[in-house]
Amino acid sequence: MKLKGEVALVTGGGAGLGRAIVDRYVAEGARVAVLDKSAAGLEEIRKRHGDAVVGIEGDVRSLDSHREAVARCVETFGKLDCLIGNAGVWDYLTQLADIPDNGISEAFDEMFAINVKGYILAAKAALPALYKSKGSAIFTVSNAGFYPGGGGVLYTAGKHAVIGLVKQLAHEWGPRIRVNGIAPGGILGSDLRGLKTLGLQDQTIATMPLADMLGPVLPTGRVATAEEYAGAYVFFATRADTVPLTGSVLNFDGGMGVRGLFEASLGAQLDKHFA
Ligand SMILES: NC(=O)c1ccc[n+]([C@@H]2O[C@H](COP(=O)([O-])OP(=O)(O)OC[C@H]3O[C@@H](n4cnc5c(N)ncnc54)[C@H](O)[C@@H]3O)[C@@H](O)[C@H]2O)c1
Repeated sequence: MKLKGEVALVTGGGAGLGRAIVDRYVAEGARVAVLDKSAAGLEEIRKRHGDAVVGIEGDVRSLDSHREAVARCVETFGKLDCLIGNAGVWDYLTQLADIPDNGISEAFDEMFAINVKGYILAAKAALPALYKSKGSAIFTVSNAGFYPGGGGVLYTAGKHAVIGLVKQLAHEWGPRIRVNGIAPGGILGSDLRGLKTLGLQDQTIATMPLADMLGPVLPTGRVATAEEYAGAYVFFATRADTVPLTGSVLNFDGGMGVRGLFEASLGAQLDKHFA
């Protein structure tokens, strides 16, 4: 029970990674408020966890939705210790050349409104409560915050921007509030959707053969599940174990940054010595 007595607010907690974080936080003794646009996702969370959670239906592009979520969280659980900015959308690797001239501004605005502004608005709304609790904020980045090829130009630029906001907020809020990022690689069990302005709103990453596409090129040898990603969010929210931790972004991506030129990893060569 590493988070006993702690209270978190998770955006996009109705599916995928966010839902796995909610499940894990409740198992670790936390109570959790969830802001999500999906009524069905929130209903599922309520079914799983009853009074340990409160769901707020809203859009992360709206400051009012975040203010309502923070207010409901504090009203229901008395405080807010940890904000987790997590709701996001993808561009399904759409390259700049494939975005029509008359669609580029709208697509940019949608991507940045959800994936970047959504986090900044969450931070703005949560600030008074986090100041009071001397709490922390965690933002979901992506391997696309570090490397090309995990998205198109819109997603990759947006996730790089998230790293900027983590560093700036850590600077602005220290030592009162810690701010960190977690950058997952591909996630099994996610329902990640695409941009409406690119006509990708009904696509789900669940239909892509992610395990086969990514597993063989990762030094860890396989893609992790949403549940396997959740543990880092527990660590980053703990108070006792994270005293020196702020402004950091965890590469939590199966070792993408240490892939070789010819093989993803050389660990199989150890077998001739030790197997
Ligand atoms: N799926 C992956 O492989 C992957 C890899 C790296 C990073 N990520 C990041 O992980 C985070 C979570 O994504 P996921 O894969 O769990 O996706 P998901 O679609 O499974 O879950 C996202 C949740 O956010 C909600 N949401 C989306 N837009 C919203 C909005 N405007 N307002 C309110 N709620 C909204 C959805 O309803 C959904 O419940 C995102 O930031 C994503 O960029 C995902």
